[in-house]
Amino acid sequence: MTEEAFADCLKEKAAKAEETVFSYLPAAEGFQKTVIDAMHYSMTAGGKRLRPLMMQETFFLFGGEKEAMLAPFMAAMEMIHTYSLVHDDLPAMDNDEYRRGKKTTHVVYGEDMAILAGDALLNFAFETAQKAFSVCMDLKEYQRTAKALAILSEKAGIYGMIGGQAVDVENTNRQLSRQQLDFIYRLKTGALLEASLLIGAVLAGADEEDCRKLERAGTLVGLAFQIQDDILDVTSTVEELGKPIHSDEKNNKVTYVTLQGLEKAKADVKELSEQAMGMMKEMGFEDSFLCGLFRWLINRRK
Ligand code: IPE
Ligand code: IPE
Ligand code: MG
Ligand code: MG
Ligand code: MG
Repeated sequence: MTEEAFADCLKEKAAKAEETVFSYLPAAEGFQKTVIDAMHYSMTAGGKRLRPLMMQETFFLFGGEKEAMLAPFMAAMEMIHTYSLVHDDLPAMDNDEYRRGKKTTHVVYGEDMAILAGDALLNFAFETAQKAFSVCMDLKEYQRTAKALAILSEKAGIYGMIGGQAVDVENTNRQLSRQQLDFIYRLKTGALLEASLLIGAVLAGADEEDCRKLERAGTLVGLAFQIQDDILDVTSTVEELGKPIHSDEKNNKVTYVTLQGLEKAKADVKELSEQAMGMMKEMGFEDSFLCGLFRWLINRRK
């Protein structure tokens, strides 16, 4: 497939994943309508929808058939990711005014509503994910759904994304070692990508060995993804990126780029992504769309 054809295919798949995600958003009504509006605002602002997309691709790679079990998890994952961005942009954290090409949620709805909308998205993610139980027909399906829920909760929490964000903000204005930075990236960014791949696989019934490999692929892709995010923070434009550039410098953050230099950062994005593709090859998935996506992400511009 040419790069152009791949980009078109990606766009199409992302649009479909987005449709699934949107179908689970709460109705904007009731006395609490404002917070639901703020949830909608952040969720519909745009975004690449990579996590639900990866979850879906993995599900189909492992022969998953029952999409009704998968769909609530795709929506839940994007809700958790979006809440992490709403909170990440708050004045108390990165203090950024643009996200996904629009004003950030706190700029439009105020800090109070943005905090609550983030909380609400996190909670609603679990309200949504548990809906998968209602379509389970046998013990095997119940067990897979329970396992997926366990992965979702762990990878979003202190042993996942929140843990990484906590170490990230605690060390703002401080020098960091490569080891500390790797820890932060594996958790703040890697964890949700690992979870996306794992949940797709678990729901489809993949075995332990393949799950271990997929988790490793998620870790590698996550590291590469965050390093590329750091690179784009210094090389892109607000228009192309949809969020502010030089946010890391403004916040006096040590990043992969400040620690290792731009050229090494670029080389490592490629190296780590190729390692992730190697894991896919080990499972016989080197020709899959998912493996192509890992390659495509090396040169992403947003
Ligand atoms: C941004 O994630 C935050 C990081 C983990 C670097 P994405 O680049 O996937 O953001 P959206 O969802 O496309 O807006
Ligand atoms: C945070 O990393 C990733 C999250 C888990 C929210 P960044 O702070 O670098 O993400 P951006 O650049 O604001 O998207
Ligand atoms: Mg941040
Ligand atoms: Mg940020
Ligand atoms: Mg960034």
